[in-house]
Amino acid sequence: MNPRRVVIVGFMGCGKTTVAQALAQRLGCAMVDLDSFITDREGRTPAEIIEQDGEAVFREIETAALRDALEDSDARVIALGGGAWTIEANRALVAEHDCLSVWLDAPFELCWDRIISSANTIRPMAPDREIAQNLFQERRDSYELAQLRLVMSKTAAPEETVVELATSLLLL
Ligand code: S3P
Repeated sequence: MNPRRVVIVGFMGCGKTTVAQALAQRLGCAMVDLDSFITDREGRTPAEIIEQDGEAVFREIETAALRDALEDSDARVIALGGGAWTIEANRALVAEHDCLSVWLDAPFELCWDRIISSANTIRPMAPDREIAQNLFQERRDSYELAQLRLVMSKTAAPEETVVELATSLLLL
């Protein structure tokens, strides 16, 4: 089995957490969801931090959390928050730790449907459709920098993505 750790990136609502959980289950390893990791450490969700202290403060917390997750946790699969991969320092950390970065490239409509239907997850970076769509476009260049791109469709179950991903891992 390929020993490299996997870091899952992509826009809000593309399915990062679901795919990371399914992949970890398939590989029989631990996974870290960076947003949950931050919530546990800080006692506040990423949304609360952004709303109370601003995005810049959140990004600092996020980078520190990513560093600790990479250094201290034995998780082999890490799901990032949607903005984390757009920060150069975070991409450098992932590269330094020799993780395989995987972009879940889901169409905007799929992401947006999930953003508006997941009432439990507040997303201050996507307060309305226009802002979310602009951010989606802006971020694509950064997501392209991931080593592997998996095209997500409305109909594909996470398990299918995981089979594709696990197969790619074996071939790498
Ligand atoms: C963010 C995405 C969120 C969370 C925070 C900021 C972003 O994670 O980290 O609200 O900037 O895209 P998800 O992608 O899991 O929603």
